[in-house]
Amino acid sequence: MAIDVSAVATVSTEPGELPRTMAAWVIREDRFGEPIDAIQLEEVEVPEPAAFEVIVRVMAAGVNFNNVWAALGEPISVFRYGDHPIYKHHIGGSDASGIVWKVGEGVTRWKVGDEVVVHCNQASYEDPEVHGLDPLAAPSQRIWAYETTWGSFAQFCKVQAQQLLPKPKHLSWEDAASYGLTYFTAYRMLMDRVQLQAGHKVLIWGAAGGLGVFATQLCHISGADCVGVVSSDEKGELIKTLGATGYINRNDFSGMMRRGGESPEEEKTRFKESRRFSQAVEEVLGGAPDIVFEHVGQATFPTSVLTVKPFGKVVICGATSGYQLDFDVRYLWMRQKEIIGSHFANAWEATKANALIEESKIRPVLWRVLGFDKVAEAHQLLRENKHLGKIAILVGATEEGQGKTAQGPGAIRAEVGA
Ligand SMILES: NC(=O)c1ccc[n+]([C@@H]2O[C@H](COP(=O)([O-])OP(=O)(O)OC[C@H]3O[C@@H](n4cnc5c(N)ncnc54)[C@H](OP(=O)(O)O)[C@@H]3O)[C@@H](O)[C@H]2O)c1
Repeated sequence: MAIDVSAVATVSTEPGELPRTMAAWVIREDRFGEPIDAIQLEEVEVPEPAAFEVIVRVMAAGVNFNNVWAALGEPISVFRYGDHPIYKHHIGGSDASGIVWKVGEGVTRWKVGDEVVVHCNQASYEDPEVHGLDPLAAPSQRIWAYETTWGSFAQFCKVQAQQLLPKPKHLSWEDAASYGLTYFTAYRMLMDRVQLQAGHKVLIWGAAGGLGVFATQLCHISGADCVGVVSSDEKGELIKTLGATGYINRNDFSGMMRRGGESPEEEKTRFKESRRFSQAVEEVLGGAPDIVFEHVGQATFPTSVLTVKPFGKVVICGATSGYQLDFDVRYLWMRQKEIIGSHFANAWEATKANALIEESKIRPVLWRVLGFDKVAEAHQLLRENKHLGKIAILVGATEEGQGKTAQGPGAIRAEVGA
């Protein structure tokens, strides 16, 4: 049966009650491929909340790269993880703003009608790591709506109660849905994993992308100097408005990108370009970076290790260009550099980071707000690197600007791009 997208903003039940079915954008194992084809609109059953779970009526959803990976089925199939084997569908969408619609047994901190945003880390409360080390260390740890289904590209999503955060009152639904995954990831990378401090110098790859716009702002409010790498001058101008000291257009250094399998001669040429890039970074920052903010992976990692200063840190959370990294390790050991892995954020980090949004010290950076019919297209734009900052999808909200209950600056709107 065809789904009437224009009716998605209407829900047939009162808060506390759930309809039997809902519209959702779904990935299935037998149609992995380009997001535009793999993500399809279907009618699915609405889940009931189990103990300590909450069903949120989605007002807006945020688009993230993880659902591009989920659609492609690369580098792994998400269907091997979490609750996918039970439900056999993947509803992506690891960012949401919405209204608590039904709570499961044991939930006391949140009630029906509360306006919330969602962080995307899940773990079982039974794992001891959750209660002393870090939920990210728990064997049960999963990224909601990547390693699990029931994400926000649907009328309702299902989350653990600990994933909920208060929606910043001055933000519209779409602004509030746009920042969680990338901002909380950047927050943990910089504030926790490498202990960003005033006076630090930082190199940020993909500074106008989802992670980069928040890394840039965190450097700025912490009193650190940062240089952002971007692929156009328009993106460079955007990150300067976010507080970057300067930018480097990577197209001026395309020869530094590692493809893998270079001959020794080619590698020599590539290395020379990396050196030239390092010098350009030093010119902008007045010295080599203490920290390199990495998520590009194979193409840039050798340059990151070379460029970071002695005793400096390369912090990495992703590998868009390829996850098999190789680099000249002499630059690591002889200069006593460190490589630090980082993955999303825990609820405490998300709470502290969210408070900075509530205070407007950090602002979402929105490029496009699209209707519910455009979920697959939005992911294709991400896949083709045609975006800046973030894309939000209206689900329960019928138009932009709804949901604000207090005064304050909303998202910064990024004007350029595809
Ligand atoms: N582990 C985690 O918790 C976590 C959380 C968030 C994201 N991630 C991962 O981190 C990566 C980035 O996420 P994102 O949301 O920031 O994505 P994004 O919005 O696409 O931004 C990434 C930026 O990287 C740059 N880039 C892409 N390919 C590149 C290449 N070959 N060489 C140099 N720069 C390149 C692009 O900027 P320019 O074209 O302007 O240079 C792009 O804007 C993704 O792989 C994502 O899955 C991991």
